[in-house]
Amino acid sequence: MPHDVSIIATFAVGFVLAFVFAWIATRLRLPPLVGYLVAGVVIGRFAADMVATAQIAGQLADIGVILLMFGVGLHFSIADLMAVRRIVVVGAVVQIAIATALGIGLAKVWGWSVGAGLILGLCLSVASTVVVLKGVEERNEMATANGRVSIGWLVVEDLTMVMVLVLLPALAEALGGKVPGGSGEHGLLVSLGLTLVKVAAFGAIVLVLGPRVLPWILRQVARTGSRELFTLAVLALSLGIAFGSAELFGVSFALGAFFAGVVLNESDLSHKAAANSLPLQDAFAVLFFVSVGMLFDPSILWREPLMVAAVLGFILVAKALNATAIVMAMGFPLSTATYVAASIAQIGEFSFILAGLGIGYALLPPEGLSLLLAGSIISITVNQLAFAARGALTGGALARPGLKAALEDSRAPAFALLEQDLENARIAAEAKAAAHRTLSPEELVEHFPMFAGLTPEQREVVLLHLLPHTAQPGERIIRRGDEADAAYFISSGEVEVSVAGKRIHLGAGSFFGEMALISGGTRSADVTALDYCKFLKLTTDDFAEILRRYPGLREEIVRQADERARMNREQEAAKPPPAR
Ligand code: CMP
Repeated sequence: MPHDVSIIATFAVGFVLAFVFAWIATRLRLPPLVGYLVAGVVIGRFAADMVATAQIAGQLADIGVILLMFGVGLHFSIADLMAVRRIVVVGAVVQIAIATALGIGLAKVWGWSVGAGLILGLCLSVASTVVVLKGVEERNEMATANGRVSIGWLVVEDLTMVMVLVLLPALAEALGGKVPGGSGEHGLLVSLGLTLVKVAAFGAIVLVLGPRVLPWILRQVARTGSRELFTLAVLALSLGIAFGSAELFGVSFALGAFFAGVVLNESDLSHKAAANSLPLQDAFAVLFFVSVGMLFDPSILWREPLMVAAVLGFILVAKALNATAIVMAMGFPLSTATYVAASIAQIGEFSFILAGLGIGYALLPPEGLSLLLAGSIISITVNQLAFAARGALTGGALARPGLKAALEDSRAPAFALLEQDLENARIAAEAKAAAHRTLSPEELVEHFPMFAGLTPEQREVVLLHLLPHTAQPGERIIRRGDEADAAYFISSGEVEVSVAGKRIHLGAGSFFGEMALISGGTRSADVTALDYCKFLKLTTDDFAEILRRYPGLREEIVRQADERARMNREQEAAKPPPAR
């Protein structure tokens, strides 16, 4: 019997077509996302029997969602969000509320239930993080106030959607849906309360234990020096936490993965974790979009053109006007309001996740997903046009002096305040990054020529072991006779070694604290900082490990330690005997 290759076929067909269509999309100056969705549509229409069952494709897509959410968590920054909180927190929540109410109204017109309307409204209210991030990046507006506000707005939308995903299972029955397995015996309030308690318990455990345990695990793994093992650890942690949280606490995969990302975000190793998981995130995110595309039924375009038009009008016009009005109502200038509006005038991944869940709970009719997909593909495709329209409309309005004074100039102080907040956040982030910053492999050699004999990969391994450490002027870093716990490499500043009645100054590029580690004895001298110093520290075990691994380095360090010991002995011998 030929063995089943359906999963392999799913991967192969999915990736090949996604690549082809994404390439075409890119040539047409469209986001690759459009290509992935179209590839899914094509597979669904013409190659459905080649790929695995929808169930397997769905599970692969779930992995995509988990990794996507992990990525969102990994990049989520409280400080960034706080800087734009004045505008985005209230703004995004009000925008979602109004859009959801409109969605319920639209559903009523179509004869759908309130539950279906709620899901539809929520799906239509949330924009695609991937598209907004890419757009802001491509327009080179990552550092501008408008760009940052759009991203902050998206983050609040994402967080709201995470809450919705968590609460939906508890609310589904009350909204007229069916929960597989049924939560029937509990009342609505009880199951809602239970869900909130579970989420709070889960959040508390992750946020209290996580920052202690996860970075520790990653650091231990980093010390093995194996890049493979590190990538595996990141993957195991994100998928493990996501799956474990779903099994133990009943919270969604997405939330678990998001929290795993948030927790790792705080660790020094987060950039490495992000870099290592990125290729997998990308790959599975592609499968996610392809599998969403597979569910699309293109006939909706000619069967229900009015419904499609209504959805598009909602996304491109109603949502944009709504956002513009809200941002203006908060006292910000027209140009900011229309920027946010154009940024969020599309729908994406969260809409699909939520729609899938809604269909699973029999809340949303299946054609709802096709409508949302049609809306998404078209709105993402025309997103650049939305920005062109924004330019024309804003430019037109601001060409009139009266309008310009009322809509833009009089609102400048609010905008200036926002820019000030952003600037403060940037300065704080820079200071934090500088304190945590470890060097690049090239900089390591620049600072410490003794590492020049290592390959770039080996330097990277060394860097993983080095811990940043600072000292104030006058601070005693090492005390003679103490047990040894680390060796120090000076990246800036100067220290004084006092030994055998002599004072020796060591500056950037030198190291100290190695003698006791090598001899296994106690500290041979006092070492004191002379000014503000920055060090890279190697703890006892790491020091032994690095020296074992790189014999050339060992030779150099042992040679210097021997030299210092010899000098000290001679010095000691030359000292006049203590007076009696
Ligand atoms: P350790 O004995 O672990 O702690 C004190 C450190 O001072 C020692 O390692 C050396 O790194 C440093 N040290 C001791 N003697 C000298 C010296 N003669 N010249 C430079 N550094 C020294």
